Amino acid sequence: MYKHAPIAIYDSGIGGLAITKVIKALLPEETVHYIGDTKHLPYGEKNEMELSGYVTKVANFCLSKGYKLLVIACNTATAAAAHFLPSYLKAMGTEIGIINVIDPVIAHIHAANCYKQIALIGTNYTVASGIYTERLRTTGITLTTLATPLLVPMVEACFNGSKINRSLLDHYLNQIAVPHLDALIPACTHYLFLKIALKNFLKKRYAKEIKVIDAAKLTALAVKQWLTTHNLLNQKASKPRDCFMATALTPSFINACKQLFGKTPIAINLNGVDLSLSI
Ligand code: DGL
Repeated sequence: MYKHAPIAIYDSGIGGLAITKVIKALLPEETVHYIGDTKHLPYGEKNEMELSGYVTKVANFCLSKGYKLLVIACNTATAAAAHFLPSYLKAMGTEIGIINVIDPVIAHIHAANCYKQIALIGTNYTVASGIYTERLRTTGITLTTLATPLLVPMVEACFNGSKINRSLLDHYLNQIAVPHLDALIPACTHYLFLKIALKNFLKKRYAKEIKVIDAAKLTALAVKQWLTTHNLLNQKASKPRDCFMATALTPSFINACKQLFGKTPIAINLNGVDLSLSI
């Protein structure tokens, strides 16, 4: 495993770009290769078999490229694949590391030990999977979950020039009937782009600041920690050559890559990946 090998970051679409932004700010010398499976967006409406298939294809692609670390920057893909992906990668005889966006949030909540009432918004799949409820079961925290699937296309549309749809946001968030809320988990990486709008809504509703748990920051710190522990931080002075790829070049994906990173994405085909290839 090489220090200069890129980090792969994967989501169904642009949500993982919010995570990528913070990883790049924290670790500017690392090269990132972003994979958006835009052909199959939205993941939140798919079933376990479909999602497992998509994740496996992306994992095979990453193995063929020799990346040092794969960041699953998607709650939905994590909820579907967390139980088999690490053992699948091990069985393939690879040393690639794997980090998802759920474990760092769960670890933060356990360590903080200060939350009693938490609300969570996520895709239909993530909410139905119960993955957060299961992982917080021993904490005594009351977790109220709500599926807010239409926020995904709304965020995608925002990168095509649309404004945040306040009435849709209000319609969903008004359904969170928790009297004393301590924190909100935006459990879909697309929603990280709504952090300020979510904070403002909660401040108005509860007349105080409510913590919006920042999966981007927590995941970036987990990436740094993993690279440090495995002695894989890139110390090369050469400029990182980041690359943004998507299975379908949608206008929102193109616009988001340009706006956030000044990069034009390229199309990739994840079918028929040759596992003998490497970077
Ligand atoms: N960004 C993804 C997540 O974190 C899901 C969006 C989608 O439904 O594709 O769950």
